Amino acid sequence: MNLTFVIPSQTIRTDTKKSVKSVVGGQERVDVLSRCLLNLSRWKGRLDSEINFILYLSNPDEQQAFTIPISLLELDLKSEVDSTQKLIEILSIPKERGIFKENINFSDLMEQISKDSKLYYLTPDGSEISELKKTNNQKENSCFVVGSQYDLTEEQEALLSRMGAIRVSIGKKDYLASHVITIVCHHLFLRK
Ligand SMILES: C[S@@+](CC[C@H](N)C(=O)[O-])C[C@H]1O[C@@H](n2cnc3c(N)ncnc32)[C@H](O)[C@@H]1O
Repeated sequence: MNLTFVIPSQTIRTDTKKSVKSVVGGQERVDVLSRCLLNLSRWKGRLDSEINFILYLSNPDEQQAFTIPISLLELDLKSEVDSTQKLIEILSIPKERGIFKENINFSDLMEQISKDSKLYYLTPDGSEISELKKTNNQKENSCFVVGSQYDLTEEQEALLSRMGAIRVSIGKKDYLASHVITIVCHHLFLRK
C-alpha cells in the first residue's frame, strides 16, 4: 500500500530567501509544512506502507508539486530545527535532495494521483475516521488531502468533491495539519 499526504500551501514561494530563523518566525508559514515533515518522518519504518508527502505550492506564480518520498530518504530529523533546515533545502535544491519537482496545476495533480489511489479529504465535518477503518482496504493506495494553515480553497474542495474524494473527520475541533497527519496514521495502522 502507498500512503500519500498532499498539502497545498498558498503562501510558500520558491524565489524567496529563507533561513531557519525566518521560518520559525513564521515566514510564508513554511513552519506548518516543516512540522508535517517531522511528524511524517517519525512514521517511517513503522508502517507497512510507502509514505509520500506532496507539498503543493498553489500560488498562481508557483503551481508546483514537490514529492517527498519519506520511505526512501535518509531523513534522520530529530527536531523542528532539523526539519526546517531540510525543508528549506528541499525547496531550493529539490533534485539534489531526492525530491521530484513538477510544474502542474492542482487539478492535474489530483487526477494523476487518483489513477492509482483512493482520495480522502480531511475536514472537521466529514465522516468519523473510525468509520474509515472499517471500509478502508489496507492493500489499497490512499491519498489524504489536508489544508495547511488555511483550509483548501472552495475551488480545490469542489474539485475533490467532483472526483469523489471521501470527506474524513478526526473530530469537531480544528487541529493543526501536522497533528491531523499523525492522528490519521495512528487510526489507519495502530488502532485495534
Ligand atoms: C489548521 S487547519 C486549517 C485552518 C483552520 N480550518 C482555520 O480555521 O483557520 C489545517 C487542516 O487540517 C485539517 N483538519 C483540521 N481539523 C480537522 C478535523 N477536526 N478533522 C479533519 N481534518 C481536520 C483540514 O484539512 C484543515 O484545513
